[in-house]
Amino acid sequence: MKNLIFSVSLLLFFCNPPTILAQSPAEAPSPDSDGPPSIYKILKKSGQFTILIRLLKSTQVGSQMNSQLSSPNSQLTFFAPTDNAFSTLKTGTLNSLSDQQKVELLQYHMIPDFVSISNFQTLSNPVRTQASDTYEYPLNITTSGSSVNISTGLVNTSISGTVYTDDQLVIYQVDKVLKPLGIFNPRPLPPAPAPAPVKHKKNTAAKSPVASIDASGGGVSLMIQTGGSLFSIGVLMFGALFL
Ligand SMILES: *[C@@H]1O[C@H](CO)[C@@H](O)[C@H](O)[C@H]1NC(C)=O
Ligand SMILES: *[C@@H]1O[C@H](CO)[C@@H](O)[C@H](O)[C@H]1NC(C)=O
Ligand SMILES: *[C@@H]1O[C@H](CO)[C@@H](O)[C@H](O)[C@H]1NC(C)=O
Repeated sequence: MKNLIFSVSLLLFFCNPPTILAQSPAEAPSPDSDGPPSIYKILKKSGQFTILIRLLKSTQVGSQMNSQLSSPNSQLTFFAPTDNAFSTLKTGTLNSLSDQQKVELLQYHMIPDFVSISNFQTLSNPVRTQASDTYEYPLNITTSGSSVNISTGLVNTSISGTVYTDDQLVIYQVDKVLKPLGIFNPRPLPPAPAPAPVKHKKNTAAKSPVASIDASGGGVSLMIQTGGSLFSIGVLMFGALFL
């Protein structure tokens, strides 16, 4: 019986070996020598991004990435959520999104720049992603040592491995879908700049100067200290007439 349990667990172990998450850039697969890398090919090879691949295909964001990367000057950092990451979303979450929201969600996982692990500390927050703006799509990235933490305001996670890197494209594995506020908890848009406050001269003039009464010399004199503005004094005296 013991033997049976042992062999069953051994079997399970071999069928489902623990995945090695952290992969140093040097060990990551190198680009195909013929032409630019295909985002689909890279993700497929890893085996744990089937939902992401489906989403990249249905929105055509994947082919946009491929054509962008065919230009040698373009650079891209991509946070790739695993199938496990997608499976922790509430059922129906992806289906409830509009096409535009799916596109923005994917673009939110991309930085239009090549950011190596050691370069994350040089970014300033909020980090500009490919999504439309940093107000609805804020993303903060902080580092401590070699760990890189990502915060969306709704989700905290860290980079758990490098899936792929060449000198143009780097793909990091994340174990949570980066849920942007703009889609999952929209904030009211920022208020328009407030109009300049209307000055009520009588009130401000009565408040700002400091008046003190000096009764020490027998006579009573009123000393008014202002910022040195005759205008204010005038207003105060004008106000005083009505007291
Ligand atoms: C990163 O996140 C871990 C927990 O996931 C936390 O312990 C650590 O303090 C965070 N570091 C930074 C720099 O935010
Ligand atoms: C990002 O960091 C700033 C400043 O530390 C903070 O005010 C803001 O709420 C953070 N945003 C998110 C999405 O974590
Ligand atoms: C994310 O981390 C920040 C600071 O460490 C914390 O205040 C916040 O509650 C966390 N948010 C979530 C959704 O876990």
